[in-house]
Amino acid sequence: MSAIQQVPTSRDHAIDVARLREQFPILHRTVRDEQRLIYLDSGATSQKPLAVLDAERDYYLTSNAAVHRGAHQLAEEATEAYEGSRARIAAFVGARAEQLVFTRNATESLNLLAYAFSNTSDKARTGAPRPDGSDRLVIGPGDEILITEMEHHANLIPWQEVCAKTGATLRWIPLTPDGRLDLGRLPELLTSRTRVVSFVHQSNLVGTINPVREIARAARDVGAWVFLDACQSVPHMPIDVNELGVDAVAWSGHKMLGPTGIGCLWATDELLYSMPPFISGGSMIEVVTMEASTFADPPKRFEAGVPMVAQAVGLSAACDVLDTLGMDAVAAHEADLTAYALAQLDGLVGVRVVGPASTEMRGSAISFVVEGVHPHDVGQILDSRGIAVRVGHQCAWPACRALGVPATTRISPYVYNDRSDIDAFIEALDGVRGVFGFH
Ligand code: ALA
Repeated sequence: MSAIQQVPTSRDHAIDVARLREQFPILHRTVRDEQRLIYLDSGATSQKPLAVLDAERDYYLTSNAAVHRGAHQLAEEATEAYEGSRARIAAFVGARAEQLVFTRNATESLNLLAYAFSNTSDKARTGAPRPDGSDRLVIGPGDEILITEMEHHANLIPWQEVCAKTGATLRWIPLTPDGRLDLGRLPELLTSRTRVVSFVHQSNLVGTINPVREIARAARDVGAWVFLDACQSVPHMPIDVNELGVDAVAWSGHKMLGPTGIGCLWATDELLYSMPPFISGGSMIEVVTMEASTFADPPKRFEAGVPMVAQAVGLSAACDVLDTLGMDAVAAHEADLTAYALAQLDGLVGVRVVGPASTEMRGSAISFVVEGVHPHDVGQILDSRGIAVRVGHQCAWPACRALGVPATTRISPYVYNDRSDIDAFIEALDGVRGVFGFH
């Protein structure tokens, strides 16, 4: 008997998945003995459409040069391509180009923020010159940084390091058993000692979408800086950074159809001008002498060395693809797939979703455990059927611990998946317990 339940389609899909998939050659390859690849690991990294691959290739074929230096036509064209891409990517999230810093990935964007606090606090101790306005970045014993128990390691470990270096204390909003933030604890955790609140928009482990404005408003009420890890939200829903009420937003290009090797940090002018450089060298300077140097205005201040021009061009093309689909349509498409997958999982004996079981304020990252079977074994069996998923603690080890699981198996569908991918996954998952002798 089929494991697939009949779930009515709630509306016509705005996204023509079959047509879109033509843009993704990798999705047409076979894996593990000629089986159709069913890619359900976009939370780890998304696949790249031809438009992105072509944009990068065209850049290298026609205009490759080091930007912001060089007195030749190629250098001029490369600089235009790079800065034009910055403006395009900034527009994707409603921002001005000057407020967008390119990094390697969201992890580096979050580290840039964290290092601003430890570097400024170091300079304050030694009396070294600091950027104007950086007083608000000086922290030490008695100060607190508030994160959540839901964080990816990228928004946890950098803050642990800041606390270790400065003597500040790390606090966190705990998880509820169903994978939501226990916001009832906010009044007690958020005090005049709180200097930074940094939290994830959408959990990469359990898909929970956090109420950004509500948390940000409370954080700003106590005078804290507010930072958002938007790695799992910018690719999946319409975002206008100005409407979030936060000071900085970090995300990666490779999870939104873009290339690897490029991340983004949007920040307010106040924050950007307060932060000292993160990495120093060429490009980020104003005046250099043998004794000392002054630094360029943001965003260049944070982009030392020859940057990732081709990746910026590729990410700009990815924004075009997503905007052509429409981010409302992307969000609606994923909401339908999420509801469908949750309904199917609910019907499987011995399978438990970890985190929100309802579709309310939750995205498409769905973690689950199979009774009696280790997640790595689940992943291996799914892989043997051509289904790509992620297994392990999902870089959110404390969250797994809080939810009482050592690890999970996770699916994370995206724009190029449809219900037939979920059906194939469910059919394969239905057989997993049988392989281990459970019936
Ligand atoms: N942060 C990525 C994930 O959740 C790698 O899979």
